[in-house]
Amino acid sequence: MIPIPEKRIADFEKLGFGLFIHWGLYAQIGKGEWVMNLADIPKEEYAKLAATFTAENFSGREIARTAKKAGMKYAVLTTRHHDGFSLYDTCGLNDFDAPHAACKRDLVRDFVDGCNSEGILPFFYHTTLDWREESFRTDFKEYQKYLRRSVEILCTNYGKIGGLWFDGNWSRTDVDWEEDALYSLIRKNQPDAMIINNTGLDARGFIGNSYIDSVTFEQGKPSRMNREGAPKYVASEMCQTINTHWGHGSRDFLTKPVPELIETLCYCRKHGANYLLNVGPDASGQITPIQKATIEEIGRWISVTGDALYEGKPSEAVSGGKDFMLDKDQKSYLYIHDLAVQAQEHVVVGVSGQGPRSFKNAFRKVKNIRWTDNGAPLEFAQNPENGLLCVDCTGYSYGENLVVRVAEIEYEN
Ligand code: GLC
Repeated sequence: MIPIPEKRIADFEKLGFGLFIHWGLYAQIGKGEWVMNLADIPKEEYAKLAATFTAENFSGREIARTAKKAGMKYAVLTTRHHDGFSLYDTCGLNDFDAPHAACKRDLVRDFVDGCNSEGILPFFYHTTLDWREESFRTDFKEYQKYLRRSVEILCTNYGKIGGLWFDGNWSRTDVDWEEDALYSLIRKNQPDAMIINNTGLDARGFIGNSYIDSVTFEQGKPSRMNREGAPKYVASEMCQTINTHWGHGSRDFLTKPVPELIETLCYCRKHGANYLLNVGPDASGQITPIQKATIEEIGRWISVTGDALYEGKPSEAVSGGKDFMLDKDQKSYLYIHDLAVQAQEHVVVGVSGQGPRSFKNAFRKVKNIRWTDNGAPLEFAQNPENGLLCVDCTGYSYGENLVVRVAEIEYEN
């Protein structure tokens, strides 16, 4: 038996595609969010960055607009990262927060307001590992209290949120993280919030504490979850950098190409996982032009190919290769990869690529199949007895190349 997902978990799966935002004091250095640790910057030295953290271009509204244009439904902001600096008002817990920095404002408030006005569901990333807080090393019980109080503020001061996204438990295996106490606090104050805790690079897809609502696949490839006999239905999500750093990297030129990101989004949905794609805004709080343009281009692809990827669930019908099928309502959707532009050899390079694609376990009797981008019908042959479906996938007409092309299947009643 596969357990029925609780509503918040089923709703989370339908969000499908989200924006991860790594931003904090470190953006001013422009060498990633681990720079304090990896470059051995002393605490007192690092803390000076607060005095120049003006955040003049940070706008939750702008970020949410970009996410929306990218076809994303939720956004996860680093409210506090390992350096210990909080983008929110810690209400007196300490002074190492945005209201005490040069910007003098609660940036999490700005983020939440912006998300709410654009219909993007706000989530909070929160570190559990802390390089600054003494108690993290000297009095772990005390540190847990500090962490819980921090999270309580986030759960009570910003209205309804999508969830908490923790990160850092992988840093210490010698301590009791008191997870039940932390998570029950969230359940109490935000009954519909997702509880996620990144298991790190070594334990991708691993299910931890029973409060956890989704597993993470950091920088990995999600696999289809085996939920047979599981005590609880748990969602899955893959987070990934758009270049090779989470925080701003002013000399990181390795921005992933749009086709690769489209294929990764598809790959995640094929396995029923959400795709959480990260940007690292610059020192001023602005998403860099290349990252903005890159993610918005994915949104244009979604607007051409259709929105089945949000609510569509992995189908029983499968292909041997990259192609896959999602089921939604009474229909199914084929995601066809590596088609070529059909023209003639003097005009475009690579005229092959179209042709038959086959799926097995396709037992429902197909009535018709059409490309979602232009409504053109596709020829197909099916043997519903043995579940074999063969679709003659035409290539792109001259002037187009969708990277992954989507076809809608209608069934006989
Ligand atoms: C790792 C890194 C951290 C980053 C996170 C994102 O845990 O330590 O810097 O925020 O991955 O998933």
